[in-house]
Amino acid sequence: MEKLIIKGPGRIRGSLTVSGSKNTALMLMSGALLAPGRTRLTNVPLLRDVSTFSQVLRVVGADVRVDETTGAIDIDASNLTSCEAPYELVKKMRASFYMLGTLLGRFGQARVSLPGGCAWGPRPVDLHLAGLKALGAEIELDHGYVVAKAKGGRLTGGAFRFEKSSVGATANVMLAAVLARGTTCLDNVAIEPDVIELGLSLVKMGARIEGLGTHSLEIEGVDALTATELENCPDRIELGTFMIAAAMAGAPGEPVRINRGRPDQLGDAFAQALLDTGATIEFADDHVLVEAPDQLRATSIVTGVYPGFPTDLQAQWVVMLTQATGTATVRDPIYPDRFAHIPELVRLGATAGVSGDSATISGPTPLTGANVMSTDLRASVSLLMAGIVATGETHVLRVYHLDRGYERIEEKLKKAGVNIRRERYDEFAQPVPHLFER
Ligand code: EPU
Repeated sequence: MEKLIIKGPGRIRGSLTVSGSKNTALMLMSGALLAPGRTRLTNVPLLRDVSTFSQVLRVVGADVRVDETTGAIDIDASNLTSCEAPYELVKKMRASFYMLGTLLGRFGQARVSLPGGCAWGPRPVDLHLAGLKALGAEIELDHGYVVAKAKGGRLTGGAFRFEKSSVGATANVMLAAVLARGTTCLDNVAIEPDVIELGLSLVKMGARIEGLGTHSLEIEGVDALTATELENCPDRIELGTFMIAAAMAGAPGEPVRINRGRPDQLGDAFAQALLDTGATIEFADDHVLVEAPDQLRATSIVTGVYPGFPTDLQAQWVVMLTQATGTATVRDPIYPDRFAHIPELVRLGATAGVSGDSATISGPTPLTGANVMSTDLRASVSLLMAGIVATGETHVLRVYHLDRGYERIEEKLKKAGVNIRRERYDEFAQPVPHLFER
């Protein structure tokens, strides 16, 4: 396995550049399967999740070619041969569940493994299934698989209200609805930028979708979509991660420049909270400048659906709070158990605890380097950030979690002055016991 070793305390100086969005890319890759022909996706980050999902696409017969020099992916979905997304791949990545809506839409049938839970508890798919049923799918569970069939071979469309806002369920149902025979009316849809980008791309392929950007969509099914070139947007969570890192580890008086992000996709709650810490933010057309204050102020946040504070930035915020003056809470009602980073941060010296769906963090606390374990993508980037401000070496183990979602992050941080390196290690190597001290 690999780990990242960060030697701190360090400062972030100069600039950082945001890659293409992971979560949007996965949706666009699903969308590409709806059109026979070759879709070219540009600005796709070369990440583990993207290569896992490429495998899922290949398993159903798509020809997927990744150009590693340009970050473009060509997906030829002319000759799909299977309607099944197997457990071995779906278990690696929840977004593979988009195959359900996609294959149902294109072929009127699908067999997709249930994704199961994840490191921070159960992640149900009831809304995905209920939405697809409302469009005319018959759904059965068979040995861990969802088997879905459209009555009469093609979905009819229908009306559905999402009881709770869900990014994934909205995307899955949209992917199915665009090729249905009839019209679909969806209510209380998620309006996260990933969903809007998917909608805009489907429209570019010939889909008829009204209401993008609002909580109600009307989708008039069409007979076929046309493969075309689609540009992926920048990763808003990477942008937010860099903005928090700059506010925490930047040098006062030396703003960090973050290139190629789309700050409008972050939502107002995040920018306001960052300003409340005392950080200065300047938005320009093609970059954002973030300047660390002399001393950060503790600022509480509650995660929410867009434009609320993103749950995917909660762990990074917690790390920043260890360096802020005062006590603040971080409440995550979207994923109430998403706090695996807290005990690891406590091992570095943080004063923090969890109760129910909230963490309380007091600071500023000097952190000291230690071995820490990544448990999921956002927790692992938060530990890396803690390593930047901690004194001594922090070893972030199981870095494969980080590689799922942050493209070339150590290279980017190294250029910005962080002392960071990657090493292989043997997770199961036993320390030699010193039974007899001499
Ligand atoms: N939910 C249900 N039933 C469902 C689906 C969701 O109750 O059928 C609940 C969830 O348990 C959660 C809430 O609805 O409490 C919102 O979940 P959502 O469906 O919006 O999440 P998701 O689509 O599974 C995506 C991102 C996550 C991100 C969330 C929230 C992808 C691949 N994943 O997940 O990203 O945290 O939206 O914004 O797009 C990450 O990138 O690290 C990540 C986990």
